[in-house]
Amino acid sequence: MNDAGSIKVWVLVFVVLFGVGTVALVGIGCAVGANQCPFLKHKALTTTDGMTLYQSTCIGCHGARGEGGTADAPPLRSGEATTLTLAQIEAKVANGKPFFMPAYSKGKHGPFSDAQIRAVAEYVISLRTKS
Ligand code: HEC
Repeated sequence: MNDAGSIKVWVLVFVVLFGVGTVALVGIGCAVGANQCPFLKHKALTTTDGMTLYQSTCIGCHGARGEGGTADAPPLRSGEATTLTLAQIEAKVANGKPFFMPAYSKGKHGPFSDAQIRAVAEYVISLRTKS
């Protein structure tokens, strides 16, 4: 191979490795919730109605009535979750858990304001007594 040819090969190798590296870093960033994830654009919600927020955001994992069961998500209406205080639920929703549950606070690049987090946490508590 002539010189120009091998330079082209190295440029190609560099571009491919750079691309793979970037995708890997963004992927890890998404998984641990470290940055705004381009693949998981949150829907912009302005409502502070806890039920609406819950139904649009949480049911996929925790179930329509908080019965849990999907994607390893625990039930919210029974078991350990019923021992959580409002503040503890707010903290969980705000911060999520890397690899398991997304963080929802704006401070963590999530979609919810503090008022929305409060509202959805209150709704989670109300699930305990809903039939
Ligand atoms: C991608 C799936 C997923 C979504 C969406 C999700 N969660 Fe979770 N959630 C989980 C998992 C998995 C856990 C358990 C992680 C852990 O051990 O902390 C969890 C834990 C919790 C807990 C603590 C339960 C306990 O027993 O300690 C609460 C409260 C909670 N989620 C509320 C919510 C609310 C409210 C929303 C919507 C704003 C939500 N979650 C959205 C997956 C999810």
